Amino acid sequence: MLVQLPLDGGDDRRGRIVGGLSTVGYAVEPVYFSPVLVRALQREIKLRDRRNEFQEASIGRNALQQQNDWVRRDRTRWLDASSLAQCRLLEEFESLRLLINRELFLGLFDFESHFAVYDPGAFYKRHLDAFNGDNPRLVSVVVYLNSAWSPADGGCLRIWPERDARRAVLDVVPRAGTLVCFLSERIPHEVLAANRERFSIAGWFRRNTTTSLCLDPPR
Ligand code: OGA
Ligand code: MN
Repeated sequence: MLVQLPLDGGDDRRGRIVGGLSTVGYAVEPVYFSPVLVRALQREIKLRDRRNEFQEASIGRNALQQQNDWVRRDRTRWLDASSLAQCRLLEEFESLRLLINRELFLGLFDFESHFAVYDPGAFYKRHLDAFNGDNPRLVSVVVYLNSAWSPADGGCLRIWPERDARRAVLDVVPRAGTLVCFLSERIPHEVLAANRERFSIAGWFRRNTTTSLCLDPPR
C-alpha cells in the first residue's frame, strides 16, 4: 500500500500546486513568495535592465534556435545564483522540485530559469514550452515582479486547458508575488501585450536526458 506522506509544515500553497499539476495540469498561487524576496528580485531585474544585461529572446533549442520577433518580443537573462535573492528563489524551487518528485514521481532532475522583461507592446504568442519529446522541460513556472498591476495594464498570461483547445480557461494577471506552474508539454499559453513594462522570471524543471553517448546540454 502506498502511504501518502503529509506535506511538510502543512504547507497549503505547495500542496495546491501539486494538486493542480496532477489534476488540470496547472496551478496559480497569488501569494506564493514573501514580499521581501519579491522586492529584492524586483530591484535586481530593474537594475540589470538599466545596465543593459538582457538579450533579445530566441525560440527553439541549439541548432534550431532562432530569433523570431513575430512569435515573441521579450528580453531575457539567465539566473546564475549571483545574488542572495536569486539564491533564496532557487532554494524555494529546489524544495518545490523535491515535493513534486515525492508526490507525483515526475523525476524532475534540474532547474533552469531566466529573468524576462517585456517592453510595452511586447508579447509571446500561444505556444507549448516543450513538445515531441525533443525538449527535457517537464514543468514550467513563472514568477511575476510587477507592483500595482491592474487588469487594464494588459500583459496577462492566457492559459488553455490542452493542446488543441479552442477556448482559454484562465487569464492570469501578472501581479508581484504570484506563481504559476504548468505541465510544459501539455498546457498551451500566451503572453498578451501589456501597455507597461512587464517583469517576470520564467523557469523549467527538466528531466535528465544525459546518456553515455551524449551529455545533455543545459540549454
Ligand atoms: C515563457 C512564457 C509566460 C509569462 O517564457 O515561455 O511563456 O507569463 N512566459 O511570462
Ligand atoms: Mn512559455
